[in-house]
Amino acid sequence: MSRSRAVVILAAGQGKRMRSSLPKVLHPIAGRPMLEWSIALGKEIGADRVVVVVSPHSDAIRQVAENHGAEIAVQSEPLGTGHAVRAAQPVLTGFDGDVVVLFADTPLVRAQTVANLLAAREAGAGLVALGFETKTPGAYGRLIAAPDGQLARIVEAKDASLEELGVALCNSGALCAGARELFGWLAQITPKNAASEYYLTDCAALARADGVKTAIVIGEEAEFAGANDRVQLAEVEATFQARRRLEVMREGATLVDPTQVWFAHDTVIGDDVRIEPGVFFGPGVTVERGVTIRAFSHIEGAHLQEGAEIGPFARIRPGSNVGPHARVGNFVEIKKVVLGEKAKVGHLTYLGDAIVGAGANIGAGTITCNYDGVNKYVTEIGPGAFIGSDTALVAPVKVGAGAFTGSGSVITKDVPDHALAIARERQRNIEGWRRPDKKT
Ligand code: UD1
Ligand code: MG
Repeated sequence: MSRSRAVVILAAGQGKRMRSSLPKVLHPIAGRPMLEWSIALGKEIGADRVVVVVSPHSDAIRQVAENHGAEIAVQSEPLGTGHAVRAAQPVLTGFDGDVVVLFADTPLVRAQTVANLLAAREAGAGLVALGFETKTPGAYGRLIAAPDGQLARIVEAKDASLEELGVALCNSGALCAGARELFGWLAQITPKNAASEYYLTDCAALARADGVKTAIVIGEEAEFAGANDRVQLAEVEATFQARRRLEVMREGATLVDPTQVWFAHDTVIGDDVRIEPGVFFGPGVTVERGVTIRAFSHIEGAHLQEGAEIGPFARIRPGSNVGPHARVGNFVEIKKVVLGEKAKVGHLTYLGDAIVGAGANIGAGTITCNYDGVNKYVTEIGPGAFIGSDTALVAPVKVGAGAFTGSGSVITKDVPDHALAIARERQRNIEGWRRPDKKT
């Protein structure tokens, strides 16, 4: 039986280097705020409790954490990572399982890596730190191994000797220990160091001094990249994208130029999907097998069913469901639209809040006038209907099955099944029309 576990996510740092009115940990990677990545990771590794440590000043962070079912601990002042974990102690009163500490600014840590950390703990280590090797250890803390291979201590770069700075094994920040022992060590740490902070990392040496077995688990450098400023934010994003593109291709999708396709954290791509360059996915997209997405299309919150064809230059907005083998062509924007099987919206069209039946054909330049400045209304287009080019459909309105609208019509009344609606001025030809004479 594995012990119960709590994840403590540190999110109370100031994050000044982001130079943003949005708190650092709410900046998104692949369309999801960094803090949400950490909370999701906590759930993925089977945490019984997820506690987010926040500063007293950030309602926005607290809100996101609460919305995702996390408990909140408040760190009164940012006095260091050790001080931050200690702030979670009152929330975890009576909790006697393992604590896993994660940082909210390192979103790409894999569940498998944390599972390895937990496995080392279950195998009998009293404190386990997650580390990685790098050629550029820079400002990271260094994991100093004891001759027996256990973790002797962790030294921060600011406090390290020259020899210690030469160590390539770095501290990721994540660690695991029993709650009782961890809070015991945290009660002993002092801010006597170069940063005058309470270092969480000091727990390693305290564990050793107590004769507790310690261990180091290694992950990949790329997993632990933190986003402290906008440059690093872009680097972390690039790391995620590179990882996801490989997975998607291995799972059977063609990316003509993988460097030019941008996925969200939750994009689902089926087999034999083909994606041309310049395609961007926002959150909440499912693409079924055999779909083709042509160049320069932007897709979010949508379901694209089998064999659909999108773009080039299409914009698919949230709430859209494109039916099997339906087509959404160039310079078409759809929002909250259900497109039936084999329906076609080929060119230069805006459809919003619409239901389009199977096999309907929407002519170039069609617009659903779905908004009266206050409320939104639905347009229904029946199966097999043919909407003439440049039709304005003033919602709420229904066009029946197999009905037609003449091009240039402004449709304000329902059109019965199989009828032709024409709502435009009749053409007059004035024979022999002459230009006026120029006035002198
Ligand atoms: C920390 C580690 C270092 C490691 C590095 C990895 C310590 C002492 N150092 O250093 O060994 O190599 O991460 O990236 O742990 N935070 C709080 N309250 C605070 C201070 C920080 O909640 O008072 C949070 C931050 O929001 C952040 C995390 O803790 O999510 C890490 O803080 P940060 O200041 O970035 O630590 P580093 O100096 O990078
Ligand atoms: Mg950091």
